[in-house]
Amino acid sequence: MSAKSAAFFDAVENRRSYYNLTNKSTLTNEQLQSLVEKAIKHAPTAFNGQQTRAVLVTGAHHIKVWETITEHYLKTLGGNKEAEEAATKKIATEFKAGYGTVLLFEDETVINGFAAKIPPLALKFPIWSQNSAGIAQHIIWTALELEGHGASLQHHTQVSPEIQAAITTLLDLPPTWISSALIPFGIPSGPPGRGADKVFSPIEDRVKVFIE
Ligand SMILES: Cc1cc2nc3c(=O)[nH]c(=O)nc-3n(C[C@H](O)[C@H](O)[C@H](O)COP(=O)(O)O)c2cc1C
Repeated sequence: MSAKSAAFFDAVENRRSYYNLTNKSTLTNEQLQSLVEKAIKHAPTAFNGQQTRAVLVTGAHHIKVWETITEHYLKTLGGNKEAEEAATKKIATEFKAGYGTVLLFEDETVINGFAAKIPPLALKFPIWSQNSAGIAQHIIWTALELEGHGASLQHHTQVSPEIQAAITTLLDLPPTWISSALIPFGIPSGPPGRGADKVFSPIEDRVKVFIE
């Protein structure tokens, strides 16, 4: 590694999960929009399919997203009042308390189109679609952190089809936009993580090299 990529790797290293968000932003809404647009435009996709979609919500829209998720998420907890209270509190303090949310989707029209066009790879396109989704998520997450935001990666929309459907209806989205993740963000009020230090597995167990 040379100094040329140092700033990039600093950003990669400094990206963390923040669960202590405030409803403040270092950026204007227009700057946030341009950050999301740039990430979606330049994130690579298999066969340049460009099937990744994003929705940026702030203010009352952000609150409504998390109220909708809470309402439908609670229905998945089997009537357990204690679990419902804990989930309501967690969603309110860790996600809804933020400034905004970027919701990421993969448009299955594009994915199914490729699968129909290239049958031998039909089973691979959904996998590559999720790979692309992860790349876009990482770019947005890391860029937000560079801008002084804290963010985390959430998947409540995947807990039940009803949650995904409620978000589709709320935001008036095409039903072919399948949620891949939610990134709630805001200026954090403290350090990342949930208290414990981040633990790393030995890198020699994870990377092998054959070089001469
Ligand atoms: C594919 C993927 C799915 C994740 N899903 C969740 C999630 O649903 N909820 C959550 O709080 N964090 C989620 N995370 C965040 C990880 O738990 C977190 O990145 C990891 O523990 C390392 O911590 P760091 O983000 O602070 O570096 C996810 C991360 C990845 C890459």
